[in-house]
Amino acid sequence: IKKIGVMTSGGDAPGMNAAIRAVVRACSYYNVECVGIYRGYQGMIEGDFEPMSSRSVSNIINRGGTILKSARSNDFRTVEGRAKAYKNLIAANIDAIVLIGGDGTFTGGMVFNEEYKFPCIGIPGTIDNDIFGTNYTIGYDTALNTVVDVIDKIRDTASSHNRLFFVEVMGRDAGFIALNAGVGAGAEEILIPEEDLGLERLLESLKRSKRSGKSSSIVVVSEGDKIGKNVFELANYVEENMPKYDVRVSVLGHMQRGGSPSCYDRVLASRLGVKAVELLLDGQTNLMVGIINNKIETTVLEKAIKEHHSINKELLRVSDIMSI
Ligand code: F6P
Repeated sequence: IKKIGVMTSGGDAPGMNAAIRAVVRACSYYNVECVGIYRGYQGMIEGDFEPMSSRSVSNIINRGGTILKSARSNDFRTVEGRAKAYKNLIAANIDAIVLIGGDGTFTGGMVFNEEYKFPCIGIPGTIDNDIFGTNYTIGYDTALNTVVDVIDKIRDTASSHNRLFFVEVMGRDAGFIALNAGVGAGAEEILIPEEDLGLERLLESLKRSKRSGKSSSIVVVSEGDKIGKNVFELANYVEENMPKYDVRVSVLGHMQRGGSPSCYDRVLASRLGVKAVELLLDGQTNLMVGIINNKIETTVLEKAIKEHHSINKELLRVSDIMSI
């Protein structure tokens, strides 16, 4: 392998730049050329490539987002789109790729690998932490800290005005952000898709808290939770049933994806980036690199996408006990 392409795809996540830097510098270290592929699979289809050197990734370890930009490409879902991408990679003499992203990114990589036997290694980068084969995805730790920080601020208003706040957090279909940030921010209740609390049980718990003297509360709701149709309807329902409570909703949105990566995410990204290059140079392909019990481990891409990474139910129990 003489030339490795690197790209970021899907939702950006803090630490992606640190991962790009690690891939580019590991390539330099091993005397392999490195090419940046812009805008994920879309850039691959359009031949949007740029040679990268150690110096092109200076001063990015601390930056959120991704200098290579990101996109969700519909064209890559088509046979024709993938054929164009393959042609461009071959024309640019790229003989392997490192894919930084989430399950959509890995699905693309897997299909591409099946069709063209093109060597690829995936690095999990998403704030959602919803990838099997790693305890942490790049960006998740930073997002948790961002969410906790914001809920701390919301708590100031909740307690000053005796309000009940519903705070919706990201996570797509997974409740990792909600559960961990919820416990970390001391939320009264945490609603996640993996566990159906039921509306009545939620109401009962909020009423009990009020009776026990709590004058304000914070409920963290994962965007994938199905208890209400959406967080606003859920808040309306609770307000109707607890008329004396002043209820507000705060949807945190994309602020959760931005910002300077935490030290944990930078270190993780550096470790995974180096390993991805080493695996390719070792002739390995179709794998994802992840971290399990602080060790870098590999998982077949297909397994990383299809298997389920379960939430830590013990945290639900802890949260229950804490909200007494
Ligand atoms: O996968 C990351 C994520 O931020 C999810 O938590 C969220 O559901 C989704 O992306 C939002 O996507 P978009 O930025 O395309 O609206």
